[in-house]
Amino acid sequence: MIPVSESSSPTSALDAQGVRTDIYPREKIPKQPVLSFATFTHYSNSTSPSVLDAGAVRYVNRGSMAIGLSLQHAKVGNGDEVLLPAYHCISMIEPVIWRGARPVFYRINPDTSINLSDIESRLTSRTRLLLVTHYFGFPQDMVRIRNFCDAHRILLIEDCAHAFFGAINGAPIGSFGDYAIASPWKFFPISDGGLIISARRDLSGLELLTPGPWFQAKTLVNTMEHAFEYRRLAAAHLLLKAPLWFKNQALRQTKGMVPVIAPSDAGSSSNLGNGGFDAARVNNRMSMSSWLITNMASKHRIVEKRRHNYARLLAELGNLPDCRPLFASLPEGVVPQVFPLVYDVPVRAFSLLKRAGVPIIRFGEYLWEDMDSSTCPVTAELSRCVFQFPCHQELRDNELHWMITQIRSLGKR
Ligand SMILES: Cc1ncc(COP(=O)(O)O)c(C=O)c1O
Repeated sequence: MIPVSESSSPTSALDAQGVRTDIYPREKIPKQPVLSFATFTHYSNSTSPSVLDAGAVRYVNRGSMAIGLSLQHAKVGNGDEVLLPAYHCISMIEPVIWRGARPVFYRINPDTSINLSDIESRLTSRTRLLLVTHYFGFPQDMVRIRNFCDAHRILLIEDCAHAFFGAINGAPIGSFGDYAIASPWKFFPISDGGLIISARRDLSGLELLTPGPWFQAKTLVNTMEHAFEYRRLAAAHLLLKAPLWFKNQALRQTKGMVPVIAPSDAGSSSNLGNGGFDAARVNNRMSMSSWLITNMASKHRIVEKRRHNYARLLAELGNLPDCRPLFASLPEGVVPQVFPLVYDVPVRAFSLLKRAGVPIIRFGEYLWEDMDSSTCPVTAELSRCVFQFPCHQELRDNELHWMITQIRSLGKR
């Protein structure tokens, strides 16, 4: 992996003011959804199309494992070439390497749509599959992409890790690929989970293993502790405070460990190896608690709140002098994963915002090191300059207001 941004590279421990940039205070508001009683409220008769409607669904450990399983199911392996976007995170590439296939990287356009003529120029007799990502929840032109794959007789994985909800031309997102994958922990307050979905292939033969009681307990505790950390579920916290304290003490003493950290608390994104692709867990099912939360949470609330928060961020941060929204409008039906801003001077912004405790997600901050850096100039720019801020359904009004104030005040400092 090569860090493409100086802002959080391990080698850039000091910023221009001599302040360490590799150690920042705890994020003051939750970067990912946290469990609350409200998670299960606000039901509505209006249904929001999602990947769950796109075909047969199997619940697995992570989105990256779902990519691995899709490749395995399609018998993509040694000697095969897989077309992957230059703008990626490492956990999208590791499953391809695990299968013994060769990643071939293609260009994306400045609006994150995929560059089909570049893809066409990279096709060979060994090309088996194209993976396409709906970046940050904004859908690709799947009708055109599906036709392209059919014309060239290659398979298609629709990567819905950033796009759990939505429809394209009336069909649920995820229904265009031979396979689709999703990463529900980016949309629901859970600490594990991935989905493999297919409307075109029979997934019933996929053999999945139920993880043991230790993993089941750990994922539930992670979810609860993450919620308590951000002052949610206060009554439950009161009840569980003492047992959790004893558990953390025991962990420290027996293993010299600190409490287990949920993926939602991991580094800039899941591309840092924390919770990324793990061949040993590729056949594992999602934990029971995460499955329950995913199925019981109000989908309507997620859709409405995310769209509402995004619109507010757009209104308040859309015209700042030092940055611009990557997507300047929120089309009907799009359910955003995050709010991406493109910064003119990212190093300074990163350091100041992180020191204030603002959560920043950095998709594509690290790129696959064997990828030629000239492959895609747009990727070089996006991975360096785009920061993603949370717009999830569990942000409270005062938390959103605080984040907006921090981002707005940056230009004045
Ligand atoms: C576009 C994309 N695809 C796939 C993945 C892998 O998902 P997971 O983190 O659930 O393994 C990620 C992870 O961040 C991602 O951003």
